[in-house]
Amino acid sequence: MHSKKESLLKRWHSLKINPKACEKKWNHQYWNDNDGFRVVSCIKCPSFDSKQQLCGINYGTPLRKCVSSSIEAHFFNSQNKNILEVGFGRSNLAKNLINRSGGTWTGIDPKRPKNESATMGKSGYGHATHIPFADQTFDKIFGIQSVEHWRQNANSVLNPSSYQDCITEIHRALKPGGSIYLDAPIHFHGNEMFIMGDIDKIKSLFPDSHWKNIQIEKWREDYLPLERYTPSENEFEDWAVEITTYPENQITEARKNGVVWLIVITAEKI
Ligand SMILES: C[S@@+](CC[C@H](N)C(=O)[O-])C[C@H]1O[C@@H](n2cnc3c(N)ncnc32)[C@H](O)[C@@H]1O
Repeated sequence: MHSKKESLLKRWHSLKINPKACEKKWNHQYWNDNDGFRVVSCIKCPSFDSKQQLCGINYGTPLRKCVSSSIEAHFFNSQNKNILEVGFGRSNLAKNLINRSGGTWTGIDPKRPKNESATMGKSGYGHATHIPFADQTFDKIFGIQSVEHWRQNANSVLNPSSYQDCITEIHRALKPGGSIYLDAPIHFHGNEMFIMGDIDKIKSLFPDSHWKNIQIEKWREDYLPLERYTPSENEFEDWAVEITTYPENQITEARKNGVVWLIVITAEKI
């Protein structure tokens, strides 16, 4: 649960988010290439405050700090782009950054009332398998802490759907050359492949026949000198419902020694 102060700090960050400041902070290589992944280690992250030895994002869980940093890094340059957020919930950070940098943000979420239509530049009802826009509408489609819920069993948000249907629908609504951005926690909650950190399975959602330049960023897996963020006991009840295809020893290992980190998947439509 957020304290009142944390909620205010989060809102303040969204209110003052500035594309030029984000460009200055993030417009360089902030990751190390390692084994085909982009590893964003805390110690080299532009959000790391080396004097105080803590993350400079001053609200939220360790994961939310990475989410906010990654939004800053990926959305400051949205000029003239039509951008759709799938599963926007109540967060405004990406929306404000996109609109301020000269792009157009539109949002859909299955939790909105069904009669609230999404139109270009406005939010409304929609689902990852039902994007209420014509083929080839968007330059970019993204989801923040949403993709892991699209096919979850525990506490599911309406009609859990196959990932293939969701990704096919996103591909349909993207312009050729358009891009995706999806972030999700690993070893935390949602669909089992995210809980188990099964990167090969996650990557296989984006076949080479339809997607190119697939990149995976790993935020906070290399967390030192910050603290290890551990899988949460509160989520373990859901793990038992979600995880059906992995062996018990792998699950035990993830519970005991797993590190919660943020995966960021980007790719371009062919
Ligand atoms: C954990 S919340 C994250 C909200 C927000 N993006 C944020 O970062 O705070 C997950 C969001 O994904 C949405 N969601 C879940 N299943 C979805 C689906 N199949 N299609 C679109 N959105 C979905 C939920 O309604 C919810 O708003």
